[in-house]
Amino acid sequence: MNETISLIIPTYNERDNITPLLKRLENALAGYDYEAVFIDDNSADGTAELVTSLADKYPVKVIVRKDKRGLASAVVDGLSHVSGKIIAVMDADLQHPPEVVPALLKEIEAGADIVIASRYVKGGGCPGWSLSRRLISRGAIFLAHLLLPATRQVSDPASGFFMFNKKVIAGAELKPLGYKILLEILMQGNFKRVAEVPYTFGTRGRGESKLSAGQQVAYLRHLFSLMKRSGELTRFLKFALVGASGVGVNEGLYWLLTRLAGLVGSLDIWAVVIGTETSVITNFILNNYFTFADRRQPGLKSFLKRLLRFNLVCLAGVGITVGVFYILTRSFGVQEPYDLLALLAGIAVAMLWNYLANNWWTWKP
Ligand code: GDD
Ligand code: MN
Repeated sequence: MNETISLIIPTYNERDNITPLLKRLENALAGYDYEAVFIDDNSADGTAELVTSLADKYPVKVIVRKDKRGLASAVVDGLSHVSGKIIAVMDADLQHPPEVVPALLKEIEAGADIVIASRYVKGGGCPGWSLSRRLISRGAIFLAHLLLPATRQVSDPASGFFMFNKKVIAGAELKPLGYKILLEILMQGNFKRVAEVPYTFGTRGRGESKLSAGQQVAYLRHLFSLMKRSGELTRFLKFALVGASGVGVNEGLYWLLTRLAGLVGSLDIWAVVIGTETSVITNFILNNYFTFADRRQPGLKSFLKRLLRFNLVCLAGVGITVGVFYILTRSFGVQEPYDLLALLAGIAVAMLWNYLANNWWTWKP
């Protein structure tokens, strides 16, 4: 393939990594037409100056931004300076081995629109990571999978090392926030095929990581912003609305059965059972045709399978409501009239559970 490959490399105080990085890229990409586009946030250590001084030896471009505006926004700015149609994003600190770039390219040549260098497919990894960093990384990915179901097809949506065809982002509105620009592209880009290539996240030789607690907060804000923009937040509101309608069905049927159908005395429990199960069924139908209309599947079999799952999830939800109520009143001594709030807390937690579990399992994308 003779397309130009544009590598976008954000830098902040990475001077000592530049020469080894460019050498390794030159070896790895021998025979390819490529450019390395550095987006530097005015590093004080002379990173940009060093890159500029190497311009006669290597195919580099340097864009210096006046203040530090973050990794994801550096990548987005870099997009308007690339000349290639194939774009790769990688870190400058050699934790993303340049030798993996040709493997990414192979997948693009084979027709993938986006290729992710992944730590979490077979053959990949991040040796040398502490347990806490491992857990944070896994937790962050789990949250993305949970809240943004479209990312579930990818094992490492938090990777900072990936390649894509420029047309993926044509017309996409990218709002970078924090570190995870790949998430933004996976949620806002236009593409069909995503591939993953395993790689081993290297240890940082020189300089230091810029990842801070602030980045973790930014990550949560980013997830929320993507939920809003991709319609997942609206989905949650629809689910809540359907839930409220279910309360109406349940109460209404209870009223009918006890007042008009004669389920009186100890038979009232049957009015509760019938009212509850009916509302589970109406909730299911409304969610199937409204909340999750985009994931509806044809056929009675799938309908019944999902109805069964929905029932099981809601049953667990009942357990959660009772459990939360029990803990608050028994272990925390919440008493009348606040028992009503304890019940409300139980219902709120159960509703969150119902939403997430049904989103994850019942209407699996
Ligand atoms: N221009 C610019 N501005 N570059 C930045 C900034 C910034 O504010 N902050 C960091 N960079 C550059 C660094 O100089 C480096 O080249 C790259 O972005 C990654 O920064 P690190 O600080 O080394 O990040 P990390 O190693 O903790 O995290 C990397 O690995 C994660 C995987 O867990 C990143 O690639 C993440 O995106 C990735 O998720
Ligand atoms: Mn790093």
